[in-house]
Amino acid sequence: MKITSLSLGALGALVVYIALRLSKGFALASIADVYILFMIAALLIYVPAGDKGKKGSLLVLGTLIFFILLELVRPLIPRSLLNVYNFFILVTVLLYFTSKEEGARDLMAPIKATLVGSENRTFRTLLFAVIPLFAVLITFNIVRPSFDAPAEPRSIHPAPPSSVNVFNKSYNLLTLKNPLRDDTANYAKNVKEGGEVYFKNCFYCHGDKLDGKGHFYQGFNPQPLPFMGTDTIAQLSESFVFWRVATGGPGLPKEGAPWVSAMPIWEHFLTEEEVWKVSMFIYDYSGNKPRTF
Ligand code: HEC
Repeated sequence: MKITSLSLGALGALVVYIALRLSKGFALASIADVYILFMIAALLIYVPAGDKGKKGSLLVLGTLIFFILLELVRPLIPRSLLNVYNFFILVTVLLYFTSKEEGARDLMAPIKATLVGSENRTFRTLLFAVIPLFAVLITFNIVRPSFDAPAEPRSIHPAPPSSVNVFNKSYNLLTLKNPLRDDTANYAKNVKEGGEVYFKNCFYCHGDKLDGKGHFYQGFNPQPLPFMGTDTIAQLSESFVFWRVATGGPGLPKEGAPWVSAMPIWEHFLTEEEVWKVSMFIYDYSGNKPRTF
């Protein structure tokens, strides 16, 4: 058995190709990686065949160089189209090699020798063990369940309805104001009482620092929103907050779908006054001001 420079080149190319795939998060789960499997099988057959395996090694080397170029250049066409091209290129090269009786024999001889030759027993057994193992690995990678939560795009701040029926009354959200804000003399007292409402009802989810990281926050998707910072309640008018607190997750309109918010319907547990007070508390504590238009 003489290993030719051609087959060494093919081996080298295979190593380069696998390294390239690895650097790109090779998952043994795409068509490109199935090709690797075929290349390995082909090399296992052609390399030990020495001179007789020249044609086969050339075929593998050519295909691999093409694949490597594709990895490096990344033409702006869909991957699936590339795979179709790859397939036709492979078929064309095979047709070329086998267009003559002699070429076909050269290409097939090492495969035949490996599969049925009497002196290749051990190697054959090994090959038949390794190839299915790879197939198992690829199949496993394809069907392996992912533990990532499915993406659920939803609007965080959907447009509110123009009016809402809560506490047995109808409120016009466009004009609704927090009545307690006019009572400036009792501002501190109202905020303090709002804080009590908050720590009795809300902090389990929204956090004792109002950062959205209460005891239970990791169990929810969507997660409770933080009130600190400038991208939640700072963006909202107080009537919006009133509506969201009073009607909770189930009160979200279509845009808020999927309706899996754990935010309770506070209309069922708090009085109207308590909702206004807790709203004052979360604005006061976070240093935000209700948005006015
Ligand atoms: C069981 C957990 C839970 C509790 C308790 C809870 N919330 Fe929520 N809250 C959520 C979740 C989850 C969201 C985010 C999803 C959504 O918008 O409905 C949310 C959203 C909100 C929003 C909307 C913020 C925004 O920027 O749109 C406000 C306001 C709010 N909560 C206030 C409160 C108040 C006030 C209380 C206490 C009276 C409270 N929450 C109690 C889970 C909770």
